[in-house]
Amino acid sequence: MRSILLLLTQVVATVLGATVIPPSTWNYTYPWPVQYHNFTSQRLNLSMAYMDVAPKNASYSSNKTMVLLHGKNFCGATWEDTARRLSTHGYRVIIPDQIGFCKSSKPPAYQFSLQQLARNTHLLLSSLGIETTYVLGHSMGGMLATRFALMYTEQTSHLILTNPIGLEDWKALGVPWRNLDALYQSELATNYTSIRTYQQSTYYVNTWKPEYDVWVNMLVSLYQTAPENKTFAWNMAQTTDMVLTQPVMYEFGLITVKTLLLIGTEDTTAIGKAWSPPDVQAKLGKYDVLGKETAARIPGAELVEFGDLGHSPQVQDSERYHAALLAWLDSSN
Ligand SMILES: *[C@@H]1O[C@H](CO)[C@@H](O)[C@H](O)[C@H]1NC(C)=O
Ligand SMILES: *[C@@H]1O[C@H](CO)[C@@H](O)[C@H](O)[C@H]1NC(C)=O
Ligand SMILES: *[C@@H]1O[C@H](CO)[C@@H](O)[C@H](O)[C@H]1NC(C)=O
Ligand SMILES: *[C@@H]1O[C@H](CO)[C@@H](O)[C@H](O)[C@H]1NC(C)=O
Ligand SMILES: *[C@@H]1O[C@H](CO)[C@@H](O)[C@H](O)[C@H]1NC(C)=O
Ligand SMILES: *[C@@H]1O[C@H](CO)[C@@H](O)[C@H](O)[C@H]1NC(C)=O
Ligand SMILES: *[C@@H]1O[C@H](CO)[C@@H](O)[C@H](O)[C@H]1NC(C)=O
Repeated sequence: MRSILLLLTQVVATVLGATVIPPSTWNYTYPWPVQYHNFTSQRLNLSMAYMDVAPKNASYSSNKTMVLLHGKNFCGATWEDTARRLSTHGYRVIIPDQIGFCKSSKPPAYQFSLQQLARNTHLLLSSLGIETTYVLGHSMGGMLATRFALMYTEQTSHLILTNPIGLEDWKALGVPWRNLDALYQSELATNYTSIRTYQQSTYYVNTWKPEYDVWVNMLVSLYQTAPENKTFAWNMAQTTDMVLTQPVMYEFGLITVKTLLLIGTEDTTAIGKAWSPPDVQAKLGKYDVLGKETAARIPGAELVEFGDLGHSPQVQDSERYHAALLAWLDSSN
């Protein structure tokens, strides 16, 4: 019934000259009210979901804004802990879901690029009257934050990267290209076990705590029960292709904003490692080296390493991660 209505909406919209891709009806509960930024992109009328968290401690309000960019296996909701702390610290926090992800529109056809996602984010921020902002990105969100800082330097006061992906060019190191139909088939096969196994080894240094299940179950509900789960799987295949084929690392030297790298050095993330030959696998995802290399490439970048943490240091050791983040924020103007 719902999908018939959806189809009907799209048919009517097409007749009117634009295809409306409504926001997701995925019913996962977010920690703050979800709002929608409607805009036209690539001949589609899209809705970008976001949360806008006011500074809680008004007396300490710095009038500063931070935008939090989620990773590829994450949603805006994953930032709850960080957003609460930043809000208490006087920041207004904007947390978008990118197009194709989570509660935002999932277009059946969309030319995904980091530039396009950066522009979508820029338009959202501009619609909210935000002229300049801190930008914090994790995982794929780190790649996106880098692209954003390169394209919208005026709008970026500071750049913070937490275990960003794309610190190396996987394809140049030998990762074979994988066609979208094959990527889509893998996405369709995603289940609790496959997500947990991956997260345990790359995010949490082969440990597991019951609270990590929250983020596994969030993804399971997107893949297995969300009404538009097939389009989501397709969008995830498309964004895998996007990060694999669109490196930003060659432009690290062009970044002009103050930059902080927060790196769990036990991370081993590398897109395409799973389908690469063993000699290629052996070269990839060495965050104990990649963090230092990246800090040397970005002019003036500061590096904080967590020697015992993996891909999600903000989840694995929230206290230590946020202490490092807030200390840097307080010391850099
Ligand atoms: C799509 O968005 C444009 C610009 O906001 C608007 O003029 C148009 O009416 C919308 N189309 C539909 C079918 O809603
Ligand atoms: C955004 O678009 C959706 C339909 O796609 C509509 O339900 C919603 O009311 C719109 N929101 C705003 C703020 O215009
Ligand atoms: C969300 O949807 C799923 C599947 O459609 C359902 O099992 C679940 O109870 C719903 N949750 C909420 C909070 O509505
Ligand atoms: C607000 O921030 C100030 C300055 O850091 C602090 O002294 C005060 O305790 C904070 N208030 C609350 C309610 O957190
Ligand atoms: C924040 O903005 C308000 C309104 O523009 C202004 O009155 C206040 O002085 C500003 N506070 C700081 C710390 O800049
Ligand atoms: C989950 O997926 C993996 C591989 O993707 C598969 O081997 C396993 O049988 C699946 N488990 C369930 C319960 O479907
Ligand atoms: C997509 O969701 C439907 C239920 O809404 C479910 O039957 C189907 O198995 C899901 N697809 C995948 C690939 O999990």
